[in-house]
Formats: sequence, C-alpha cells, structure tokens
Amino acid sequence: MLKQTLLPLFLAAVLAAGAAQAQSAMPVSHPVADPAPRDPALKPVFDQFGGKAGLVALMDDFMANLMADPRTRPFFEPVDREHVKAELVDQFCVILDGPCTYTGKNMERIHRGLDIHRSQFNALVEDLQKAMDKHGIPFRAQNKLLATLAPMHREVVTK
Ligand code: HEM
Repeated sequence: MLKQTLLPLFLAAVLAAGAAQAQSAMPVSHPVADPAPRDPALKPVFDQFGGKAGLVALMDDFMANLMADPRTRPFFEPVDREHVKAELVDQFCVILDGPCTYTGKNMERIHRGLDIHRSQFNALVEDLQKAMDKHGIPFRAQNKLLATLAPMHREVVTK
C-alpha cells in the first residue's frame, strides 16, 4: 500500500526534477560560427586572388559596386567603409589561408539590427562576383570562396 502511493509521488518528483534540469540546460542562443574559418586547402586560391594585395584591390571594386547598387548602398552609406574594407580583406585572407589575422567582430554581432533581407544578401554576393570577374579571378576560385561565405547567411540575414 505504502509502495503504491509513494511510487507515483517518486515518479512525479523525478519528472519535475528532470524538467527543471532540461529547462536550465536549454541553450539560450545558438553557438557563434567562426567568422574567418581558415582552410589550408584554399592556399592555391589565395594565390589566384593575387595574395593580400589582390584582395585589397578587389575590395576597392567590391565596395564601389556596393555603393553603386541601390539594394546595398543604404547599408554602407553611413558606415566607415575603409574600416569595413580592411576587415573584409583580413577575413577573406584568413579564409584563404593567407598570412593575416581577423580581429573584427563575428558575423551575427556586426550585422545584428541591420535587418538584412535574403535578397539584399544575394545582391551583395552579385556585387562581389562582379568585382571578382573584373579582377580576372577564375570561376572555380570564386566559387571556393563563395562556398565558405554562403553559410554565413544564417547569421547575416535576419529578415
Ligand atoms: C557573407 C556575407 C557577408 C560577409 C562575409 C560580411 C562581412 C563583414 C565584415 C567582416 C564586416 C566588418 C566587421 C567589423 O567591423 O568588425 C562587415 C560589416 C558590415 N556589413 Fe557585412 N558581411 C556580409 C554580408 C552583408 C550584407 C548582405 C550586408 C547588407 C546588405 C552587410 C552590411 C554590412 C554593414 C553595413 C557593415 C558595417 C557595420 C558597422 O560598421 O556597424 N553585410 N561585414
């Protein structure tokens, strides 16, 4: 008899404790992705981009395209574009296994609050492709970089 009344109580206590634990163990936010994942396999691609000097030149045209594009201009008009270009050079340089260090913010943090839509993300990628074409970067090399950048939409696109 005692056993019969205590068992449900015991089970209820265990379930309650389990639920409380599950709640406290619940992640409050998803893990932050590395904004500049170095990939040693991309070293030949770094050379195809013309090394760091090539990336600096590329970023000038990329930013010029972003400013000429009505879909992206409003985002870049009010910010320190020289700073963004320098961070992008370091970010791409690290991804392509170049001799650089990325000290900028992570992708979620820097783009938080900008309300970026998927179509605006795609517009930026198009503007980057245009700049890479102008610099004669081989299509396959372009795609290798883009494949690393593409998953970042998860942290950049919030709308
Ligand atoms: C894969 C896509 C993207 C990458 C890799 C990227 C990368 C970066 C980097 C490295 C910075 C500078 C970080 C720092 O200052 O610490 C930055 C800043 C910025 N990005 Fe992006 N970005 C991407 C997509 C976009 C898109 C789609 C937009 C808008 C259309 C955008 C708008 C901006 C703006 C406005 C800033 C400056 C923010 C500020 O200074 O407060 N980005 N981005």
